[in-house]
Amino acid sequence: MEKELMALRDAATQELVQANDLSSLNELRVKYLGKKGSLTAILRGLGGLSPEERPRIGQVVNEIREEMERLLAEKTEELKAVELSRRLASERIDVTLPGRRPEMGHLHPLTKTLDIIKDTFMRMGFEIVGGPEVERDFYNFEALGLPKNHPARDMQDSFYITEEILLRTHTSPVQVRTMLAHPPNHPIRVIAPGKVYRRDYDATHAPMFQQVEGLVVDKGITLGDLKGTLELFVQEVFGKDVKMRMRPSFFPFTEPSAEVDISCVMCSGKGCRVCKGTGWLEILGSGMVHPRVLEGGNYDTAVVSGFAFGMGVERIAMLLYGIDDLRLFFDNDLRFLRQF
Ligand code: FA5
Ligand code: MG
Repeated sequence: MEKELMALRDAATQELVQANDLSSLNELRVKYLGKKGSLTAILRGLGGLSPEERPRIGQVVNEIREEMERLLAEKTEELKAVELSRRLASERIDVTLPGRRPEMGHLHPLTKTLDIIKDTFMRMGFEIVGGPEVERDFYNFEALGLPKNHPARDMQDSFYITEEILLRTHTSPVQVRTMLAHPPNHPIRVIAPGKVYRRDYDATHAPMFQQVEGLVVDKGITLGDLKGTLELFVQEVFGKDVKMRMRPSFFPFTEPSAEVDISCVMCSGKGCRVCKGTGWLEILGSGMVHPRVLEGGNYDTAVVSGFAFGMGVERIAMLLYGIDDLRLFFDNDLRFLRQF
């Protein structure tokens, strides 16, 4: 038995000394010391020996085991060092290579457009307010003079959540909310940008789009104030050469009402595909705030008057960047978006 053990030790030591890479070292560890290794097998077989022999042989086996573990550890260190110096000699790191730059994005053209609009009105002294996209029928329609079954509701076919709650079809409900948030007759000069939803879909109509509502209420506000404000806005955004016109229109929440067109920036008013040959493009609806809307907001029509407007942000962006289909803004095609 002891002879066998000595032979095993000699063989193992020799193999260990000859091993010249880490994976063959590992194979040797498994071969001798692993669960099914030969030394482990002998240790397990000790039970079959006589009680006198057992402690002595057990001790020898343990000595061999410790010896091998020590050799394995030494050899592992040695081979690791060899491997490291080999890599240091062969691999070169070029510290002068440029780093990897993170890819920089940029703002979406609609975000840029909205920033321009907000900035222009802020310089005129407007405050920015907001309102919910999921809105009550009351604020979206009723309080604006559009009772149930009013035919003008058809122009803004919507997405209903319940009979009383819907995705707002325009930003005009913020008019009523803003007045109710102020003490009666308190002067107001705000814009309310935000997303709105309609059952629409073509080159100039998206089911989700953005509007910027404007509301000014104070003593002595006139249609002239509305016109002057919008003309200044148009000049600031599109330049002095662009003309603006007000066209009589109808909204149940303004009286009188006007839709505002600007001379087509694609063809300078000569007539083209985008303006459908008319030379003009509609950018917003507007008017003097209807008395019943002021009253609904607890404002006294004998004391104050006001104007309001609601412009389409995508339409303004189309004109600013010369885009003939607004759906391109929402396709997320990088070939399109990278141009801005
Ligand atoms: C309104 O929504 C009124 N609330 C505007 C208003 C406010 C009038 C305050 C008076 C006082 P209208 O439905 O015309 O009006 O929409 C206003 C603008 O939103 C349009 O001029 C157009 O620029 C834009 N617009 C309307 N529908 C869409 C659509 N589906 N996709 C993109 N832009 C749209
Ligand atoms: Mg309109």
